[in-house]
Amino acid sequence: MINEQKLQISSLETVELTRRPRRNRKSAAIRELVQETRLHPSYFVSPLFLMDGENKKHEIKGMPGVFRLSIDLALKECIELYQVGVRGVDLFTLVADDKKDARGSEAIRVGNLLQRATKAIKSEIPELCVMVDVALDPFTDHGHDGVIDNEGNILNDETLAVLGVMSALAADAGADIIAPSDMMDGRVGYIRRLLDRHDFSHVSILSYAVKYASSFYGPFRNALNSAPKFGDKKTYQMNPANFREAMLECSLDEWEGADMLMVKPALPYLDILTKIREASDLPLAAYHVSGEYAMIMAAAQNGWVDADRVLMESMLSIKRAGANFILTYGAKRAAELSR
Ligand code: PBG
Repeated sequence: MINEQKLQISSLETVELTRRPRRNRKSAAIRELVQETRLHPSYFVSPLFLMDGENKKHEIKGMPGVFRLSIDLALKECIELYQVGVRGVDLFTLVADDKKDARGSEAIRVGNLLQRATKAIKSEIPELCVMVDVALDPFTDHGHDGVIDNEGNILNDETLAVLGVMSALAADAGADIIAPSDMMDGRVGYIRRLLDRHDFSHVSILSYAVKYASSFYGPFRNALNSAPKFGDKKTYQMNPANFREAMLECSLDEWEGADMLMVKPALPYLDILTKIREASDLPLAAYHVSGEYAMIMAAAQNGWVDADRVLMESMLSIKRAGANFILTYGAKRAAELSR
């Protein structure tokens, strides 16, 4: 039997509480004085899903409040984003099934939706930074990020040629930043050289340097109808178990000429973010991906968490871990809440 009296310390003085961290939390004013990390609207970048047509707005399954937009409505969205302080968008396009083929030809068709949207946004709001996601998966009928051979292997160097043309066309349409998300080897160097040779040396490269083969991309693939039709992406996207591999990817991309690096997804990989923050002096982005957003919204819809608070706590944590800016589907809301 436990003797309760024996469990108590006879006099409080035997425990000298000279250090009381709670003093620094005793009022809102003091808490603000000692706050180490703050959010600002300019930290948020909004991914945008574009679709053909006019006055089109389709909500995406699993992503409440996120829509596929036709260009005219996307322009309105960009203006609203800019007004609340968001300074960047990252563009993705929905490609109709009959335009998809094994090589992703639509990705390099002059005048495709991606280029038209880039042009339209840059002429409507030149101040807004336009990033273009460069990868073939929304354009291929098999859903992989690269060109494949007869056995279904993803061909690295053949894919680079297509990514290069796609990047140059995006640059020509006015993109400020090319953001390759495919994880092929050597793509940053290849795209950098190609851009430089075609007078696009002013166009930046934000490398999705550390992109894991994650199960958190589900709602995104739903949005673009881009899930792989066979196999998985593990021969090019990274093993979630690995950290040193992330360091290697970052140093290669830095050496190949990336202007900025990205870690993706965000919350499950904050340790990676922090380590890369320490190892590289390049600006660092984090992609708070579709599944991360979906989990917040689903729990909130059930009344289990408060969406705004959980979103902002997530953003603060990503920032604290070392991100300079964050791609998130909650960009507009996060900007509104951090003004
Ligand atoms: C395209 C791409 C993907 C995402 C961003 N760019 C999907 C994938 O690689 O399978 C995922 C983004 C998200 O889940 O929000 N390569």
